[in-house]
Amino acid sequence: MHDILPIDYKYYEKVLETGKEVAEFYNFQRIETPILEMSELFEKGTGETTDIVQKQMYSLKTRGGDALTLRPEGTPPAVRLYLEHGMFNYPQPVKLWYYGPFFRYEKPQAGRYRQFWQMGLEVIGEKNSIIDAQTIQIYYNILKELKLNNLIVEVNCIGDQLCRPHYRKTLASYLRSKDSNLCADCKRRIKENPLRILDCKDEKCQAVKAHAPQMIDHLCEECKHHFKEVLEYLDEIGLPYRLNPYLVRGLDYYTRTVFEIFQEGKEGQAQTALGGGGRYDYLIKLLGGKETPAMGGSLGVDRVVQAMKEAQITMDNEKKVKVFLAQLGYLGKKKSLKLFEDLRRANIQVGESFDRDSLKSQLKIADKYGAQLTLFLGQKEALEGTVLIRNMETGRQETVKLENAVVEIKKRLKK
Ligand code: HAM
Repeated sequence: MHDILPIDYKYYEKVLETGKEVAEFYNFQRIETPILEMSELFEKGTGETTDIVQKQMYSLKTRGGDALTLRPEGTPPAVRLYLEHGMFNYPQPVKLWYYGPFFRYEKPQAGRYRQFWQMGLEVIGEKNSIIDAQTIQIYYNILKELKLNNLIVEVNCIGDQLCRPHYRKTLASYLRSKDSNLCADCKRRIKENPLRILDCKDEKCQAVKAHAPQMIDHLCEECKHHFKEVLEYLDEIGLPYRLNPYLVRGLDYYTRTVFEIFQEGKEGQAQTALGGGGRYDYLIKLLGGKETPAMGGSLGVDRVVQAMKEAQITMDNEKKVKVFLAQLGYLGKKKSLKLFEDLRRANIQVGESFDRDSLKSQLKIADKYGAQLTLFLGQKEALEGTVLIRNMETGRQETVKLENAVVEIKKRLKK
């Protein structure tokens, strides 16, 4: 788990602001779910055979005996919220977005944290393929807006309840015949979840993977049609994508469309996906609702921040201080504190250095800020009830009454 220092927080804020702006443009509404949920929600929702449930959950027992888990992802909680608050009675689809910390017990490495931030979108109650394309487009737009270049979307279709079981069998029997050439994890996966082998990065499994039967050749008519439409929509909006028959994603609830977004040159490495998601048409029923189609995705905010820094995208770290308030002596300090508050109320961005007594060192700071005006409030001004305004560009100085200071400063500020 990592700290976020002020220098990085600017980036996190920028991702949140941009994500919020784009999500709201597409009519998503923000939600917040608790950080702790019943463990059962993820065991059922994310799936018993996933790495997340088998190896990566931070789980605990409460004093009352409840089994809880620090949320490893946002989709099952969003579905729980949708069901618990009767959102199936709202006009469908319900479009929700969220931002916050998530927790997975990962092997620490670049791009993989044990506490990380996601910005997620879920569209619940719509089966049309246009939603799949639009969800992918929204993430692409957010990343573009953040000035990240060379983005590439990888897409695949992993079938539905009709065609996947058949493909699973075909794949499992192929894998069994090659079983001695698989890594230990994949040997176990043949029985539990053979599709995950396609996602395996172990050297040993690559040759077996290369000749494995592909889902795309085993799709039923409806899935084929749905996927064709998704790709046509992506073509229509000119989004750069690539088919990846090995993209299966690490969560159990997906059906049909799955996607991940990378920067060119980093594609295919799980720890470099900037975001990902897909359709989950059976999850709502699995968690106790009616059969309801849905589509969503999440952005890995820490990875996006990292990519922005690598691309040397700079953040404006300095405050835009227009006025600097310099003071001298106890009386001057006293009056300055009041003037500072008056300026704050008038929404004028003002800098100060109340902890310094020397005028010289205060002026150095004013210079660093690049303030348009510097105000002086010393013993003399405090006694007279005035303040000296100095235009930093022209060097011109004028004394004004303290009670008129805000109005006089506003008059002299360049927009
Ligand atoms: P996910 O692929 O597990 O999907 O996570 C989405 C993104 O979160 C990843 O692409 C990655 O950028 C980031 N991420 C995941 N784990 C870590 C980590 N340990 N450290 C840093 N970043 C990480 C989901 O979580 C699904 N709930 C997405 C979704 C929403 N599908 C449908 N709706």
